[in-house]
Amino acid sequence: MNLNKFQHPDINDNMWNEIDKIIDFNRGDKGAVITVLRKCQKIVGYLPVTLIDYISLSLNLPASEVFGVATFYSLFSLKPKGKHTIKVCTGTACYVKGTKEIINRIDAEYGIKAGETSKDRRFSLDCVRCLGACGLAPAMVIDDKTYGGLTPDKAIEKLQEYN
Ligand code: FES
Repeated sequence: MNLNKFQHPDINDNMWNEIDKIIDFNRGDKGAVITVLRKCQKIVGYLPVTLIDYISLSLNLPASEVFGVATFYSLFSLKPKGKHTIKVCTGTACYVKGTKEIINRIDAEYGIKAGETSKDRRFSLDCVRCLGACGLAPAMVIDDKTYGGLTPDKAIEKLQEYN
């Protein structure tokens, strides 16, 4: 492949080499597209459009097909993800206890709305229906850790622990 055509600021030469190895290993297997996307996302952190184009060409598949797979499964992200993932609960129990204020405060502090990643890629913010921790409302999860009984100030305090 002519790699000059496929440059991307988030993909360095080592990453391209790893990506090529994955593609070579799976070449000719039309059912391998999910595996290839999953492994490539693990290397880069997400799936830039350039990378999807490269995979399509390399596997000799229509770009629409590879895009279709990448957008269908929630495990794939076409946007860069932050180093840490914040999941704020917008379920009823949490919402009535102030989720909206927490979300607004996170936006004011880090400039992120639901589904976005901060410019410095420190945090990605997701809003979810219920974290299964209703007794702790309002609750949020940072990476794998659950925090409850939050106020906007407490939420920011917790987030400041994550660099
Ligand atoms: S409603 Fe928020 S954890 Fe269940």
